[in-house]
Amino acid sequence: MKNIAVIGTGYVGLVSGAGISDFGHNVVCADIDKNKIKHLQNGEIPIYEPGLQELVNRNVQSARLSFSSDVNKSIEDADVIFIAVGTPEGENGASDLTAVLDVARAIGKNLNSYKVICTKSTVPIGTGAKISKIINETSNNLLEFDYVSNPEFLREGSAVKDFLWPDRVIIGASNVRAFDIMKNVYRPLYINETPVIETTIETAELIKYASNAFLSVKISYMNEIANMCDEIGADVHVVSKAMGIDGRISPKFLHPGPGFGGSCFPKDTKALVSMAEKYGTNLNVVESAITANQLQKERMVKKLFKLLNNDVKGKTIAVLGLAFKAQTDDVRESPSINIIDALINNGANVKAFDPAANDNMKKLFEDLDTYMSWEETVKDADCVVIMTEWNEFRGIDLSKLKELVKHPNLLDCRNILKIDDLEKQGFNYDNVGRKKR
Ligand code: UGA
Repeated sequence: MKNIAVIGTGYVGLVSGAGISDFGHNVVCADIDKNKIKHLQNGEIPIYEPGLQELVNRNVQSARLSFSSDVNKSIEDADVIFIAVGTPEGENGASDLTAVLDVARAIGKNLNSYKVICTKSTVPIGTGAKISKIINETSNNLLEFDYVSNPEFLREGSAVKDFLWPDRVIIGASNVRAFDIMKNVYRPLYINETPVIETTIETAELIKYASNAFLSVKISYMNEIANMCDEIGADVHVVSKAMGIDGRISPKFLHPGPGFGGSCFPKDTKALVSMAEKYGTNLNVVESAITANQLQKERMVKKLFKLLNNDVKGKTIAVLGLAFKAQTDDVRESPSINIIDALINNGANVKAFDPAANDNMKKLFEDLDTYMSWEETVKDADCVVIMTEWNEFRGIDLSKLKELVKHPNLLDCRNILKIDDLEKQGFNYDNVGRKKR
């Protein structure tokens, strides 16, 4: 059993801290935000993440997991320190490393014995070397430590499952001692025979970006194929199903939609392109995926306007789904933002509902009219637009929907409603790449 400090209590830090304590280690999750720590100490989880509350409760009760705003002491007491603070988008798409480097300085100042310093945050290639340099400088080169890159592949909404049952674990380190300590941290996963890739620090750093950018390219590609389906009257679901059966392609991440959002793909693709430029190489494919994604978000706005014959002024539009995907309350880079923005700017009345993200969207659009159910939201609407694939929207009874709305216009940006039913109910509808009428 190791003593572990996880610095940063966002999605990555909280899920990783709780998950590592579940592996049997003593974990303290530390953050300089005293208020956040107070809530966590009272058992309140500040983010919506299925299964996280239970995971935290279980490990707090077993006294393996605790929370502290004393970052310095948490560092002193730890054998392994995970850096899990945010790396927001900085200038020209590059990552802003301010928080990561602040933690590195705190580690250097409080280094009182040999420790492994491990980065979970998504950081540009070469950050490991920067962190090591800072720790050496601030600790006056007096004590030994090892640096490890251990990127995470958690998806919001299924982060707990992704942490406890990952497809693979990536460990980038420079000596056997560090690899052995990390092996001990992830012992249950080694026993489960989860694939573990042991590699250099720089390779580990790149694996994370290369994976996220590849998935972004895959989505943008499928979105463009869907747009082509729109034009030629083909059904993108049949196309993607047939493609996915090919083991070389795989059926995952082939769902067309309103464009990818969230805190990772948009930021990481830009950061990777910016890194490639720095190293004098090209990532034309990723650049195109970024452009295609922006166009996809705009295309959804155009589709919506077209359903209403470009006459949205004074019309009431019900937006169902605000989060960037289902099972999260996160609205960062959500395609709903583009839709709401365009509607407001063109004089429409927006009624909006998300099962988890109403409050977060109201931080961006203060006066947004939000509701607590889809039924209230669609009442007397001139058009309904589905932006997020929540299960409760999949189950919408279309005859009931038709009774509630003023006019049966519907844009399904997630392709979750059955076309036959929409036709039967006489909806004027559109979707992303599915044959219609
Ligand atoms: C993503 C990665 O999937 C994680 O492996 C990674 O750890 C994480 O970023 C990160 O870097 O922290 P996340 O952003 O939570 O996770 O969400 P995803 O499920 O990957 O979805 C991203 C976006 O792509 C969403 O807007 C989603 O709606 C969209 N998407 C996804 C599609 O449009 N089509 C698909 O087939 C799949």
